[in-house]
Amino acid sequence: MRIEIRDLRHTYPTGEEALKGVSFTIEGVTPVAVVGQNGSGKTTLVKHFNRILSPTSGAVLIDGVETTKQSTAKWSKRVGYVFQNPDDQLFLNSVRKEFEFGPERVGVPAADIQKRLPEIAELCGLGDKLDSHTFDLTATQKKFCAIGSVMMMDPDVIIFDEPTCGQDVEGSRRLSEIIGHLEKRGKLCVTISHDMKFVAANFPRVVALCHGRVLIDGDSREVFAKPELLKKSFVSPPPISRVSLGMGFEKPAFSVDELVETMKARRRKMA
Ligand SMILES: Nc1ncnc2c1ncn2[C@@H]1O[C@H](COP(=O)(O)OP(=O)(O)O)[C@@H](O)[C@H]1O
Ligand SMILES: [Mg+2]
Repeated sequence: MRIEIRDLRHTYPTGEEALKGVSFTIEGVTPVAVVGQNGSGKTTLVKHFNRILSPTSGAVLIDGVETTKQSTAKWSKRVGYVFQNPDDQLFLNSVRKEFEFGPERVGVPAADIQKRLPEIAELCGLGDKLDSHTFDLTATQKKFCAIGSVMMMDPDVIIFDEPTCGQDVEGSRRLSEIIGHLEKRGKLCVTISHDMKFVAANFPRVVALCHGRVLIDGDSREVFAKPELLKKSFVSPPPISRVSLGMGFEKPAFSVDELVETMKARRRKMA
């Protein structure tokens, strides 16, 4: 899987210049997180990956093909976008119907749809909610219903727009499991998130945006080792990373266990 973003600019009809020349390439299926303050252009950027939006100038290429060469409907089979707000996405009267709708629309055989459905429902924690009306779901369940209905399309790339927003610990755990599941199955997952603890735990690569440009892009440990630069994007490394950087360690720790290990190693060195 390869997504190439070449000097992408996007200006909304209002005159708002949301992307001011973004370039980077994603190769393979290692999960990528996109971070940055509200209004920095994250949603505008990812909506170009399946042509919900088209570039004002520049280009996005999916496996070498410019997104503008095909319709959104066609791209959505390969690149699935899960809206930040499930109410923008869900419109049918049961979870089951939401799950069946996308693949039915693109002509997936009924038998294949029924084969996919129980596993995805289970992963999304909705195994016993298939016949519930989406109005009757909790906010967390609605989010997972939106995620599940995009997974049902079995796309090669799946984009989550702030999936942790308003999510409890159990929801974050479930999301981690889904991200791991997708990577194991050879799917690329690109996720917008404000939760840096979640980002550190699940995404080896982080792209931070600031005012429509890339501020920093790299290995999450290297990105979180630069708290001063990240401040420009109103991003701060996860609390445990800040503690370890504050103690003078060069690489930020991502868990208490890691910090303890690094401290032990330093003590051994000093002994
Ligand atoms: N539909 C739109 N029309 C006009 N301006 C928009 C629209 N959507 C987003 N913007 C503006 O574009 C900029 C980037 O927005 P967005 O991509 O939603 O950022 P983020 O997802 O990082 O919060 C912001 O200034 C926002 O106000
Ligand atoms: Mg957004």
